[in-house]
Amino acid sequence: MLINAFPQEKELTIAGMMSGTSFDGIDVAIVRAKGAFTSLRYKVLELCFHPYPESVKSKIEKFLKNQDIEILSELDIDIALEHVRALKKCRYLPKVDLISMHGQTVWHSPRKKSLQIGNADLVAIQTGKIVVSDFRSKDIAAGGEGAPITPYIDYCIFSKSKTIALNNIGGISNLTVIGNSPEEVLAFDTGPGNALIDIAAREKFGVDYDEGGKFALSGKIFEDVAKRVLESDEYIWKNPPKSTGKEYYNSDFLKRFDIENPHDLIATTTYYTALTMRKSYEMYVLTRFPVKSVYLSGGGTKNPALLRFIEKELSKIGIRTFVFSERFSDFKEAIWFALLGNEFAKGHFSNLPSVTGARKRVALGKISVPW
Ligand SMILES: Nc1ncnc2c1ncn2[C@@H]1O[C@H](COP(=O)(O)OP(=O)(O)O)[C@@H](O)[C@H]1O
Ligand SMILES: [Mg+2]
Repeated sequence: MLINAFPQEKELTIAGMMSGTSFDGIDVAIVRAKGAFTSLRYKVLELCFHPYPESVKSKIEKFLKNQDIEILSELDIDIALEHVRALKKCRYLPKVDLISMHGQTVWHSPRKKSLQIGNADLVAIQTGKIVVSDFRSKDIAAGGEGAPITPYIDYCIFSKSKTIALNNIGGISNLTVIGNSPEEVLAFDTGPGNALIDIAAREKFGVDYDEGGKFALSGKIFEDVAKRVLESDEYIWKNPPKSTGKEYYNSDFLKRFDIENPHDLIATTTYYTALTMRKSYEMYVLTRFPVKSVYLSGGGTKNPALLRFIEKELSKIGIRTFVFSERFSDFKEAIWFALLGNEFAKGHFSNLPSVTGARKRVALGKISVPW
């Protein structure tokens, strides 16, 4: 139990903030949360997206290439200030009791270190609010992957619908299959989400992503190349618990495709993403759970080419795909972070050892106070 944890039934207004591996910006969800764990109830009050300015995006890219400590220190401040700007766009900010921020992942080395930046003390001081941050370190300290951590909330919210599968497609694709108890939840990263598509779009067309899937839809899919890359993809063949990031699905990985034509490259990486999902479901999910349908969320659902390929690949193994409503799909992770903040505030453990491989259940998050 946390010292001075809030009473279980206290209603809290929490700003959940998520900035994923796509580096597109910060999603904010202000929610009213009551109860905790399976008696958790919530209501969304406000949702807003704050895009990163180009200067921050390019600084993140620079850091990922050079790992320069001076750039990292600057980014820790820049990203905190973008969080403050994002919060100041929200009408409900004055009502917020707690800010719960994921921070920007700039490094994820499973079981060693997962580094989220965006200085939480600065966010606390500039907003006058209590901030919970750094949700991954404790699970790693307890021997876990430090990821994925949102499946705990998937379980809290969807535990009444047994064997439902949820798949969020951000930079990386994360899957959760809800079992009968928290110990049974199966969740892991299936592999790339938009990561490879985005890198190819940036390298070949100088844009952030394949808007509307138009590059993919006008290219040719080289299935043989995708199969060859799959064989060489060490991550896909690993058994869960496992997690991955853009340190692995990066521009070096993209070189494995060795395809000249930019449209064909994007068509094939988009297909590859769907193929890795099918393989992951086949090898690690269907062997344990009779999953018949999966609910998709995240930015990847806005790419019609990717959606079409996923639908086709998963239908081969008898799984139907559904997409959550657009608002929920765009903000699910931010809402879930607000709810992880609620669990922390109410003194609950929120990692799932069956998912991360941690030795024990621990309370995820650290607190920064504005005084
Ligand atoms: N209109 C669109 N067409 C194609 N892809 C899109 C579109 N909108 C968003 N995306 C994809 O979604 C990604 C952002 O998804 P998001 O869920 O925010 O990921 P993350 O959690 O990693 O930030 C973009 O980088 C892009 O690949
Ligand atoms: Mg995003």
